[in-house]
Order: sequence, then C-alpha cells, then structure tokens
Amino acid sequence: MKIGILGSGEVAQAIAPKMLGLEHEVMISARDLDREKDKGEWGSLPSVNAWVRKQASEHLRAYGGSFAEAARFGELLFNCTSGSHSMEVLEAAGRDNLKGKIMIDLANPFEFSNDVPVMTISNTESLGERIQNTYPDLKVVKTLNHVSAELMTNPQLLAGEHDLLICGNSVDAKKWVIENVLEGWFGWTSVIDIGTITGARAMEMYLMLWMRLWEIFKTEKFNFKYIFEAKAPAKNAAKKTAGIKKGKKASKKRRAGKQGVRRKI
Ligand SMILES: NC(=O)c1ccc[n+]([C@@H]2O[C@H](COP(=O)([O-])OP(=O)(O)OC[C@H]3O[C@@H](n4cnc5c(N)ncnc54)[C@H](OP(=O)(O)O)[C@@H]3O)[C@@H](O)[C@H]2O)c1
Repeated sequence: MKIGILGSGEVAQAIAPKMLGLEHEVMISARDLDREKDKGEWGSLPSVNAWVRKQASEHLRAYGGSFAEAARFGELLFNCTSGSHSMEVLEAAGRDNLKGKIMIDLANPFEFSNDVPVMTISNTESLGERIQNTYPDLKVVKTLNHVSAELMTNPQLLAGEHDLLICGNSVDAKKWVIENVLEGWFGWTSVIDIGTITGARAMEMYLMLWMRLWEIFKTEKFNFKYIFEAKAPAKNAAKKTAGIKKGKKASKKRRAGKQGVRRKI
C-alpha cells in the first residue's frame, strides 16, 4: 500500500520503517528536504533526502516530497506534524489530495515556547475536530497521539497489555484502521473506541498529564491500562461507544468481559 506521511520528524522517522519493513511504500514530507532536523538537547534527525537515501540503500521503497506530494501519493495518510502547525500543513497538502482518504491523526496541538507547554486548541475544540470540520471529505481517525513514537509501532515494549484510544466519525474508517494498521501492522491488542471525533478533545488534553508523568517517570515508555470492577463491567458504557464490531476472537473476549475480565471493544 502507498502511505503518505505529513511530516518527517521523530514520529514520521519512527513509524515509517515499520511500514517499509512490511513492504509498503512510504513517502515522508517536509518544508525543506535537505534540512537536517535540529532537536536541541535531543540531538538531530537526518534530512528527508538523507533518510530516503539510507532506506534506499536497504532496498526499501521510501520516498521524500513536499506535503502536497505526500498527500497525493498516499492511499492512507498520517498526520505527523507539529499540532500547532497541522492546519497550515494540510492547506499546503491541498484539499484535492486529501479527498476521500483515511488520515490517522496522531498530532497534539501544543506550543512549547514557555516553561509550561500550552495547548493551541482545546476545551471547546480539538485539532482532530478542526481537521475533520475543515476537510469533511477526509476520514480523520485520531489515535496513537497518547503514546511515544517508539511505542506506536512497538506496543509489546511494555510488559503486559495496555490500552490505545481511538475516535473518529467514520465507523468504517476506524474499523479498517484498527484491524489493519493498529492490530495488523503495529500489534496493538487492546483498542478502545471512544466514539466520534469530539473524543479528540480528551485525547489531546491528556497530553498535559502525559508530559507531567514523563518528567516524573524519566522515560517515554509508559501507557495506561483501564481496570474494571470485578463484577459485570459497564454494559451501558459499551452501548455508548461507537460499537466497533470485531471478529469471533474479540466477541469471545467481550463475553469474557461480562464474566468479570476487563472489557475490550
Ligand atoms: N514524539 C513523540 O513521541 C510523539 C508521540 C505522540 C504524538 N506526537 C505528536 O506527533 C507530532 C509530530 O511529533 P514529532 O516529535 O515527530 O515532531 P517533530 O520532530 O518536531 O516534527 C514536526 C513535523 O512538523 C512539521 N512542521 C510543518 N510546519 C511546521 C512549523 N511551522 N513548525 C514546526 N514544524 C512544522 C515539521 O516539518 P519540517 O520537517 O519541515 O520541519 C516536522 O516534519 C506532534 O504533533 C506531536 O505532538 C509525538
């Protein structure tokens, strides 16, 4: 499959190799394809062109381009841009190149010029919603934004099962992303659908807590796991979700949930 990644920073360069390894074609993108990325105290990342050359030397089908070229190239899109600049990037990507596609939005709208990070969109709106409302023909699926770049494609790096949140307006798009990308390519085993794209408010605001915990834990490798009371777990809560149906295996797990084991959606 052809995958277009908007962005070429830490996340783009972390998730692209996983998909290249699965024999997909991936195009990452930037404003300047020759500019090495200065990550301050965290060092630097190769420019898009240097990164592409390295992948090509390993016979992987990796490409670099402008935001518009990556959006045009991708049958599936990822938004891996700085969340406070994602709207500019999408405008540069071009409405026609986004039309009808699924876009996994993992960006968080933060600004880091002060000591305490500030959300540039929050409370009554979210980046996920703004993208969806601006591009109604794009199927925005918000997920992966609350785990570190390395964990996105390697959830097994943490001991035990942990949870990934997802939301979006298109039930079909979420189902496709869960089955193919999250479970199939990346190996997630517990994905919780929190409903329409308005759920992105909570998912993005959670990053305030994530960043605080990161300072305390001194590692990016952590995530949450929801635990339910031992008795029948919330039947009503299940009805309130977007209700993604899974295969037989998942149904079995849902039945197990009714008997007191944690519930998965
Ligand atoms: N890093 C993580 O572990 C992690 C985890 C979860 C979610 N996220 C989210 O994923 C997104 C990407 O994170 P990242 O760590 O990969 O960030 P990053 O390394 O700083 O990369 C940011 C990307 O945004 C692009 N961008 C476009 N216009 C920009 C502008 N005006 N100013 C700054 N950047 C601009 C950059 O393009 P150029 O290449 O042209 O500079 C770059 O490709 C963010 O929204 C972040 O909140 C990150």
